Amino acid sequence: NEIYLAALGGRVPEFPMEYGALEARATAAMSESLFSYVAGGAGDEATQRRNVESFEQWGLIPRMLVGAETPDLAVEAWGHTFASPIFMAPVGVIGLCDRDNHGDIAVARAAAQTGVPAMFSTLMEDPLEDVVAHAGDTPSFFQLYTPKNRELAESFVKRAEAAGYRGITVTLDTWVPGWRPRDLTTGNFPQLRGHVLKNYTSDPVFREMVGSDDPQMTVLHWVQTFGNSLTWTDLEWLRSLTTLPIVLKGISHPEDARRAIDAGVDGIYCSNHGGRQANGGIAALETLPAVVEACDDRVPVLFDSGVRSGSDVVKALGLGATMVGIGRPYVYGLAMGGVPGLVHVLRMLLAEAELLMGVNGYPDVAAVRENIRRL
Ligand code: FNR
Repeated sequence: NEIYLAALGGRVPEFPMEYGALEARATAAMSESLFSYVAGGAGDEATQRRNVESFEQWGLIPRMLVGAETPDLAVEAWGHTFASPIFMAPVGVIGLCDRDNHGDIAVARAAAQTGVPAMFSTLMEDPLEDVVAHAGDTPSFFQLYTPKNRELAESFVKRAEAAGYRGITVTLDTWVPGWRPRDLTTGNFPQLRGHVLKNYTSDPVFREMVGSDDPQMTVLHWVQTFGNSLTWTDLEWLRSLTTLPIVLKGISHPEDARRAIDAGVDGIYCSNHGGRQANGGIAALETLPAVVEACDDRVPVLFDSGVRSGSDVVKALGLGATMVGIGRPYVYGLAMGGVPGLVHVLRMLLAEAELLMGVNGYPDVAAVRENIRRL
């Protein structure tokens, strides 16, 4: 309605209305190496392309005479009511995607403005306490890249708990970055230049580990402790760190989902990291139905990787996701137009999803599930 009314007054929207144009605007707004870092994926990026293309293998069948003018898209999970089923996936380098290098705080502001929750990466440009303070009443999750040093891991989780995060997302697929030719070619590793490390340098355990303010020592210690390739036996320890909900990110196999729930986790996050970690895989969307089945309604199932439009959001919900994560599109929104650009992208996705459900005669997600078909 806003757009139609503006058009009546002869005004053209400031921001693009679809992903292709959005990506083009972001390319122009970012340095070449930063854009490559965000856009790139593992290997020849076949998995990344497949993530996006897989949505075209599913189709929605419209139902008529239903009267679904205002579809219900609210979600209940972990004791919260979320007004919308989308969330902002954790994006480590997002601090740099804002003109003033405070991208995480910009994300938190957008979360406060829209009610769309965000997960904030361990690789935040600002300390985790400063970031969550800007998210208002919208629940935030802290995403843990589990360091090798267990005391440091514990310190991050305790800080997140004390700062008011409502859950911990533990990312399992990235204890080391994948083979990403674009970054290997440009040599662009922001962490190694000291970016996104303030969340570490503001940590008492990390400061004690480094023992000096020397930037090179800081980076060296960061590299040494960054990623712990966790095993099943570590889950008990993770569980003992917090009473907050724990969500495991990077689950693709139904057996892994089942075993994780048996071990006491509170959410399964089906994702292949947007194809950034491993090439040669199947699309994340192709893994979703079996993961959902394995979870058997015991815990919420989150999903991301390849979502580019409102219809993609609806399809992922139709295949059983409780909530759908947005990755690159919102990063581009931020790079293109700061908080207003990011808010625009979220509202565009939600408006398309809601309108699609309305015109397709789906009053709720259950109706999508009954009317989605593999093509
Ligand atoms: C990511 N992702 C990510 N995931 C995570 O758990 N911790 C992190 O720090 C990051 N960092 C990160 C940086 C950048 C630049 C991107 C694009 C992605 C992965 C992210 O959470 C999500 O899984 C993917 O972005 C989803 O895929 P699409 O939608 O971007 O294709």
